Amino acid sequence: MTTLSPAAHTKPSFANDPLHLIDVDHVQFYVGNAKQAAFFYAHCFGFQIEQVSDLTSGSRDASHYLLTQGNIRFILTSPLSPTHHAAMEVAMYGDGVKDVAFNVYDAEKAWERAISNGAQPAYEPRHFKDEHGTVTMAGIKTFGRVNHTFVSRTGAYDLTKVKQGAAFMPRFRKFDTTATSAGAGGINPILTINDYNKKNPCGLKYVDHLVGNVELGKMNDWVKFYEQVLEFSMFMHFDDKDIATDFSALMSKVMSSGQGLIKIPINEPAPGKRKSQVQEYLDWHANTPGVQHLALRTDDELHSIAALRSRGVDFLSLPDAYYEKVWDRVNTMLKQHGHQAVKEDHEAIRKLGILVDADDEGYLLQLFTKPLQDRPTLFFEIICRRGAQSFGKGNFKALFEALELEQERRGNL
Ligand code: FE2
Repeated sequence: MTTLSPAAHTKPSFANDPLHLIDVDHVQFYVGNAKQAAFFYAHCFGFQIEQVSDLTSGSRDASHYLLTQGNIRFILTSPLSPTHHAAMEVAMYGDGVKDVAFNVYDAEKAWERAISNGAQPAYEPRHFKDEHGTVTMAGIKTFGRVNHTFVSRTGAYDLTKVKQGAAFMPRFRKFDTTATSAGAGGINPILTINDYNKKNPCGLKYVDHLVGNVELGKMNDWVKFYEQVLEFSMFMHFDDKDIATDFSALMSKVMSSGQGLIKIPINEPAPGKRKSQVQEYLDWHANTPGVQHLALRTDDELHSIAALRSRGVDFLSLPDAYYEKVWDRVNTMLKQHGHQAVKEDHEAIRKLGILVDADDEGYLLQLFTKPLQDRPTLFFEIICRRGAQSFGKGNFKALFEALELEQERRGNL
């Protein structure tokens, strides 16, 4: 079974989406060493290391690696000089998400509309042009260090062509994966890892949602921002009674783009006896809001988690008691709403340490990695939806307990 991004199989009708977001064009990370990070994401998460823009292709100030899997495109950017803005940001925040970019028909128009809706510009429209086509990018600021860029593409740089392997934009080159580019011993490491990943896919398809952590008292301001500037609407919300343990809590409101292309839950810490996970993130992120996690969608949670575990991905581990209660909770909820019970093998789910939750529309399987860098900041969620459109509220308490255990190990609780 293949699931495409909502954008890819829904005929665009933008009645509820005046900015006309077609797809997630890419997610850009600022990292200390893009060359090394590319191998980390390829090795651990099965991404293809597809293209690069660096000194060899005419990029003098920064290097950018394009990594792809399904309909996910990551751009890993590293500064080549201390004056590039990524240099300051990496020093301040460590590696993390800088930009969640949306593909639109007309980037300039979308940007102008967002600005007239009250957005702060991150940068003015820029046109990257050569004989193959044009890529137009224009950015607005969102919470903390994060931007949203609008991207429109013409000619060979159209997103459908990029998905088929065309160059991402001018000054990007594909990795030369011919035998002649191999080093000593005839081994080309990028060809080797890409080939391994093609034969052993991890099954990640697209970005399901991304979560922003903002400061205490600021959640509603950012909810308003997504309503007014990007013309999103609120999809659901949780208060500190929903997401709390005896020790710590958070509050969350989920914003959704008009056509459901992307959902963005906004979290703020809530007062508790001990430090909220959102506050821990902020403490290690120069007290600046940012992306807490990216949720990557799979059609086969068991396969994806088994593959990622075998590649060395570290996931949060749950208290054993979780599986004593989960089937009653989930299958009772599914039965109440006339849905089939969870079809995946229950014992395999337990062995792989996967979380399960249900709502009135079905169920979901999910699991969270540990932080992807030394700072306790960005992590990934691997999620599979079987009807459920929610975010695993029933798991929050179990998950919080697991997260707090990790916080305690880091001396941050
Ligand atoms: Fe999530």
